[in-house]
Amino acid sequence: MGLNCVGHAGIIGRSDFPLKLFSSGYGRIFDPCTAMIFDTVNLPRNDFQLALRAIEDCQEPRYQSDLDAVINAVTSRQREYIAGRVLARELLGRLGVDAQTIASGPKREPLWPKGVVGSISHNELFCAAVVAQNSVVTSVGIDIETTGRIDRQLWGHSFTEEETEHLLQLEPVAQLRQATLFFSIKEAFYKYQFPITQSWVGFRDVSVHQEDASLYRLTAQISDATLANTVLAVVESVGTDQVIALVIDESVLKAANRRD
Ligand SMILES: CC(C)(COP(=O)(O)OP(=O)(O)OC[C@H]1O[C@@H](n2cnc3c(N)ncnc32)[C@H](O)[C@@H]1OP(=O)(O)O)[C@@H](O)C(=O)NCCC(=O)NCCS
Repeated sequence: MGLNCVGHAGIIGRSDFPLKLFSSGYGRIFDPCTAMIFDTVNLPRNDFQLALRAIEDCQEPRYQSDLDAVINAVTSRQREYIAGRVLARELLGRLGVDAQTIASGPKREPLWPKGVVGSISHNELFCAAVVAQNSVVTSVGIDIETTGRIDRQLWGHSFTEEETEHLLQLEPVAQLRQATLFFSIKEAFYKYQFPITQSWVGFRDVSVHQEDASLYRLTAQISDATLANTVLAVVESVGTDQVIALVIDESVLKAANRRD
């Protein structure tokens, strides 16, 4: 899948190179570029902005409200929080939305400007953010995970019996990746559903079913079960050891595909 390479001031090129280089040097290679993910999803850029960037390349400009929010946190937490805000603010700017403050709610949920939905994720190296006009989408959820973090001991807590059965049929390498994907999709779904339900959802309350190489459907045993029926998860590999999942309204994906 091709990736767009985007600088701070806009699109400066389009290339397949970041995927190859992701595995061999991360941050420096991405400076000053941002890998645009999910190119094939074909979301309308006027309404959606989505990006992945190395945390180290995403530390400026800092806003006092961001610093205040993590003033007592350890340095790594301060850096990931600031990176998420810096990236989200840049993406909001591309939608024409000026956000001085993107505060966190009582359950850690980002509080987006009026008329906008969004989601943030980070791991040790990267942060990912998505923002969208809520006139075109109900909510969005994004999650990035490092492959291999979800070992067998976590399966019982994280996966349904059907998911476990599926994982057991896979070779070890595929199993590690698939377990990470299932987990990431569920976390992305949690972030999608929280602004709507304000509710906790357990990992085993949600089942993930593969539709094709990069598309997954969800079902959920939650108070608003229809919520999971109306979304799809799109996944992508980032280099050899990271996966990223986006949960989004099925209707938006279908409309995007029709534009192809
Ligand atoms: C909240 C949770 C999903 C975050 O995932 P994570 O892998 O730990 O961390 P990530 O870096 O991917 O995401 C963290 C970001 O998620 C966002 N987030 C946190 N809580 C959120 C919530 N309740 N609603 C929406 N977004 C939330 C925040 O932006 C946060 O970053 P920030 O604090 O710097 O702003 C996870 O910690 C959790 O509690 N999971 C349990 C519930 C769950 O996932 N159930 C799955 C079945 S639906």
